Amino acid sequence: MEKTFVMIKPDAMQKSLAFEVFSRLEKAGLKPVAMKMLKLDDVNLDVHYAHHADKSFFNDLKTFMKESPVIASVWEGENAVTKVRELIGATNPEQASAGTVRHDYGENIQRNLVHASDGPDTAKEEIGRFFNENEVINW
Ligand code: CMP
Repeated sequence: MEKTFVMIKPDAMQKSLAFEVFSRLEKAGLKPVAMKMLKLDDVNLDVHYAHHADKSFFNDLKTFMKESPVIASVWEGENAVTKVRELIGATNPEQASAGTVRHDYGENIQRNLVHASDGPDTAKEEIGRFFNENEVINW
């Protein structure tokens, strides 16, 4: 079964939407196998968003991601990576399809509520970045 990494971002925490997002994943048949709340710092963010380090929005993105705690999680299911990406919608809420999390609640391209892995290889990398093997529960 495929696993994917999902992070509830500070804006979703501030709007009390963390469990609304998780509820949508559960209703779509995905199963939570790991979860933890944490406050990100520059060390975490420089690694997690390394591919955006040269972008003009990088510093703003890091400041935003440190506003509040986040919830890191791992979800399992058939085609979990694609399924989660479909449920959360396009990065820019303005372009997200109706009924997706970002369409329904996203404020702008930065405050878009949730991060999800963009492919199976990235998922493995991101899961390993935030969880030890014994924190991912086989059930
Ligand atoms: P995420 O899926 O976490 O991946 C990278 C994040 O960078 C993205 O969601 C947005 O929060 C943010 N991001 C991407 N593009 C832009 C942009 N053009 N301006 C500001 N933030 C962006």
